[in-house]
Amino acid sequence: MTPPLHLLLLLLLLFSAPRPSTAQLPTATHLHFFLHEIFSVGDPGATAVSAAGGNDPSAFGFVGVYDDVLREGPEVDSAPIGRAQGFNAEVSSLAGHVEFLTIFSLVFTSGELNGSSLAVAGRSVVEGAATSERSIVGGTGIFQSAKGYVVSRPLTAPATRLLLEFDAYILHH
Ligand SMILES: *[C@@H]1O[C@H](CO)[C@@H](O)[C@H](O)[C@H]1NC(C)=O
Repeated sequence: MTPPLHLLLLLLLLFSAPRPSTAQLPTATHLHFFLHEIFSVGDPGATAVSAAGGNDPSAFGFVGVYDDVLREGPEVDSAPIGRAQGFNAEVSSLAGHVEFLTIFSLVFTSGELNGSSLAVAGRSVVEGAATSERSIVGGTGIFQSAKGYVVSRPLTAPATRLLLEFDAYILHH
């Protein structure tokens, strides 16, 4: 005896419906690295320049563009793992501290992350050694459709350099 057609259709639908599986759960990745910036005006090795607003990063309206090196460690000769490419716009100094809107790509160039990138956007408040938390709004390569956040913290560096310690907390597939 053949089963009625509507039962066959129902069975087909049941077996083709997406089922939750562990492969669908996002992967959580934590990256720890250091951003090295050289911003001395006129230095051919500079990785950051002023694009608007003169050379005072604390002036409202200042815009800085950078192509900074990401390294495994805080030492200047530590192994490079990528670049931070983007800009900061000084959007407020009303509260007695400098507030930036920052948009940048973290572009990875080593190991299994080579060719993958993260898009980061958000607010950075320059106030002593305060940490800044910014959103990961997307990514490419193994970080396609990534979400998450980065936390950065300034470390002591020579006058024409900026050294930031970064932790990136990434959810991706
Ligand atoms: C990263 O990938 C590029 C392009 O495929 C390749 O030329 C380069 O050698 C790779 N770098 C490392 C460190 O693997």
